[in-house]
Order: sequence, then structure tokens, then C-alpha cells
Amino acid sequence: MQVVERLSTGIPDFDKLIDGGIPRNFLVAVTGEPGTGKTIFSIQFTAQGIKDGDLCIYVTTEESRDSIIKQAEQFGIDFSSAVKAKKLLLIDALMGLEDPWSLRSLEIEELLNKVIEAKKALGYGRSRLVIDSLSAFWLDKPAMARRYSYLVKKVLTKWDFTILAVSQYAITTSDAFGFGLEHIADGIIRFRRFIRGGVLRRYILIEKMRQTPHSLVMHEITALDGKGLVILGPAKERMEDIVLPTTVTKKVLKAKNEKEMEISPE
Ligand SMILES: Nc1ncnc2c1ncn2[C@@H]1O[C@H](COP(=O)(O)OP(=O)(O)OP(=O)(O)O)[C@@H](O)[C@H]1O
Ligand SMILES: [Mg+2]
Repeated sequence: MQVVERLSTGIPDFDKLIDGGIPRNFLVAVTGEPGTGKTIFSIQFTAQGIKDGDLCIYVTTEESRDSIIKQAEQFGIDFSSAVKAKKLLLIDALMGLEDPWSLRSLEIEELLNKVIEAKKALGYGRSRLVIDSLSAFWLDKPAMARRYSYLVKKVLTKWDFTILAVSQYAITTSDAFGFGLEHIADGIIRFRRFIRGGVLRRYILIEKMRQTPHSLVMHEITALDGKGLVILGPAKERMEDIVLPTTVTKKVLKAKNEKEMEISPE
């Protein structure tokens, strides 16, 4: 049997859910509502790449490079040194025309050209690419999602990238935003959020990972200062997910008792 080469995500407990990591040269969609952990996950994936000797490119369309560096710092990740050492290249869309590592427009051709240029600047070798977010490139033309995603996969995996493509998820526009990418992607990592007992809880679910016997269970996650994302445990085994509210339990018991009385001979 051919062994699949896998890249660690930088979150050991998450790697365990996907048989060790993301297969090399995959394009994986990272999707979810605002504030659910997509960028933190992408930062940790990049940091692991730097550790493993992979060449890394991080494209940020909604935040500045500085904001990504500062966010990484909070989890003990030093992106500035990696940039200086030419192990990491940060590309943003906010710096203006004069900066060589700033996108001049949110056009897909501009993205592809800039990433290839960045890859040439970094050199040969196994590489990781984060596009945070790819959905920014079809914001004003959602019908292009599928074609653009296909183009990114076709062109960039040839350059030995394993790619995380972040897509923002809006329930009202899920077709337009997510699904074009999600069909093309080799994997889908879905972040979710719910309010339980007045507390915001975040979850992660692997909805697809080709060539991988992966977990089908939603796991609760949290972001810890100084550490990053951690997996708290499977959602289905957590009491608050399985225990019914007492009012419901009482009603069920009452119904059960009444039924038993009906069938009892007395
Ligand atoms: N240092 C920290 N310690 C603990 N939690 C943090 C820290 N920094 C950020 N967070 C948490 O992470 C959240 C942001 O996560 P992240 O940036 O990954 O979201 P996202 O899914 O990328 O959202 P968006 O779609 O808006 O970009 C914050 O709202 C906060 O709850
Ligand atoms: Mg983000």
C-alpha cells in the first residue's frame, strides 16, 4: 500500500483526527463563521511548516501583515524572525502599489502571480500556502467561486504547495461563498460556534479529507493565550450536549409513568 505523506497541522490532537496530518499537495478549505478560529488554525499550520523546514507563504486579505504577526506572537510564534530568515513570506492586500509583497488588486490572476513570485523568491522544496481568505477574491462575483478554486488548485499544487484556503461562511449566502470551493477542495475543515448556557463555544468538524480515515465527530475547541487552539473533547460526549434540560426530562418521565399505568392490570 502506498503511504500518504502527511503534514502536521501544528495541533497534535487535531492531527490524530486526520490520521496524522494533511496529505501533501492537498487543497483544504477552512471554513466557518467569524471569530471561530480559522486564522489561528492557519497561523499554527504555518508555524509547524517553519518548524518542519517547509517554505511558507501566508496571504492575508482582511488583516495586515502586522496583525498576523501580532496574533502569532500571542501564541509564542515568532513570524518576524521567520520572515528575516526567508522561511516565510507574508503577502497582504493593504500596503499599496509600491510594496512588492502587496497584492495590487483582489483579482485571482494577481494572487496566482504573486504567490508564484514569492515561491521563486523562497526557492525549491516542500511548501505550505495559506490564503486567508480565498473567498475575498469572489466577493463581488460569487458565481466564480468554483472556477477560481479550481484554478488555484490546478496552478499552485504544481509548485509543491499544500494549501489552506480560508472561506468565510455566511448562512444566507452559503451556496455562493462556500460550496464552489468545497467541491473542489480535497478536504473541508469546518469551524462552528454555538452559545450554550450563555457561553460562546467553538467546535471543529472534518467534513471531508480525501485519502484519509478521519474522525466524523465534532470536537469542542478553544483558543488559549500563549498556546493556540486546543481540542477539549468530542462534542457528543460532553454532558451539556447530551443531557436534556430538567423540564424536558420531567415531561418524558411523566409520560412514561402514565403509559405504564395505562398498561398495568390494576
Ligand atoms: N491571545 C489569545 N488568547 C485567547 N484567545 C484568543 C487570543 N487571540 C485571539 N483569541 C480568540 O480568537 C478569536 C479570533 O479567532 P480567529 O482570528 O482565528 O477567527 P477567524 O475564524 O479567522 O474569524 P474571521 O472570519 O473574522 O477572520 C478571538 O475572537 C478570540 O476569541
Ligand atoms: Mg480570520
